[in-house]
Amino acid sequence: MRLSHCHNFQDFRTLAKKRLPGPIFNYIDGGSDDESTYRRNTTAFESCDLVPNVLTGVKDIDLSVTVMGQKLDMPVYCSPTALQRLFHHQGERAVAAAAEKYGTMFGVSSFGTVSVEEIAKQVKTPQVYQFYFHKDRGLNRAMMERAKASGIQVMMLTVDSITGGNRERDLRTGFSIPFRLTLGGMLQFAIKPMWGINYLTHEKFSLPQLDEHIDMDGSATSIGEYFTNMLDPSMNWDDVAEMIKFWDGEFCLKGIMSREDARRAVDIGCTGIVISNHGGRQLDGSRSSFDQLAEIVDEVGDEVDVILDSGVQRGTHVLKALSMGAKAVGVGRMYLYPLAAAGQPGVERALGLMRSELERDMKLMGKTSVDQLSRANLRFR
Ligand SMILES: Cc1cc2nc3c(=O)[nH]c(=O)nc-3n(C[C@H](O)[C@H](O)[C@H](O)COP(=O)(O)O)c2cc1C
Repeated sequence: MRLSHCHNFQDFRTLAKKRLPGPIFNYIDGGSDDESTYRRNTTAFESCDLVPNVLTGVKDIDLSVTVMGQKLDMPVYCSPTALQRLFHHQGERAVAAAAEKYGTMFGVSSFGTVSVEEIAKQVKTPQVYQFYFHKDRGLNRAMMERAKASGIQVMMLTVDSITGGNRERDLRTGFSIPFRLTLGGMLQFAIKPMWGINYLTHEKFSLPQLDEHIDMDGSATSIGEYFTNMLDPSMNWDDVAEMIKFWDGEFCLKGIMSREDARRAVDIGCTGIVISNHGGRQLDGSRSSFDQLAEIVDEVGDEVDVILDSGVQRGTHVLKALSMGAKAVGVGRMYLYPLAAAGQPGVERALGLMRSELERDMKLMGKTSVDQLSRANLRFR
């Protein structure tokens, strides 16, 4: 299979699986525990159907939206994800360039493999900085100042990862940073030599956002230990309220799932909330984002931008979320498999296919702009 044969999410996934050593593919592909939330994330979109209108005159379609003060040409953005240069040597640089080409936003993770500053210089498109809250408050402030100085538009604090999810696929392969592969895991690398050659002939792996805190060469600190030793499990609403004041700009919480928390997020000054279960990678058995969207929009939809991620694979998934009241939709694996499969051309193809699907689906729905979508377009089964 080649890139030109990839027409949808599953095609990119198949190609990524072919190219990547098993432990890396499974790190991207996996969820936590029994992966039940992970599965429900996408099937939830099938609990309702779109009801189209016809004969409305749909020659020109405007897909643009404004979310957290950022004007995007389409309502889909690349959610921040860790370790992208491990999936393809172009990593974050490829994702940022593809997002810019399609006029949308992207995020750089705290566990990103290219520095926030470098990416900010590379592209003009809006950039989100995904943040974890550290025990050391001075470090939190220093990291925010660094983000501000490099021109980051949106701060996104991840709140669903107070401890790591139980990813059993990674336990089996020994995937961790630095690698602690099991014998089986090593064998899976051995049978994908092209990945290894590519990896070794490009810039050395690093985590520039955290390199002062994680020792990549020794066995000193792994990402797992970083979570335990550096991040603050006692983080609470007052801490975040202080952070928001300090940031003094667009600020959202990623991983809000309850109506009460959405309300509190508004009360402490967030300008957005991301309904997310981390792509089914944290609390298994938690509700899917789409199932939970309506009640959160009903609670705070008039006051902040409600965004959704987890499980989105298709243009019609996006239209269902927007009809329900989301302002924009984040994707993770939808661009990660294409990145792994083919680098920047892969991500560009995936975003291009998404834009075509959205345009086609809007026409078939009889809508010319995103603000015409409403719950009147949806019926639950
Ligand atoms: C491989 C991988 C790494 C991720 N790394 C991060 C991260 O560093 N920080 C974060 O807030 N979310 C991270 N996420 C979660 C994504 O930002 C997003 O919430 C999730 O992928 C959405 O679900 P989807 O993959 O079904 O689209 C990661 C997801 C994946 C698949």
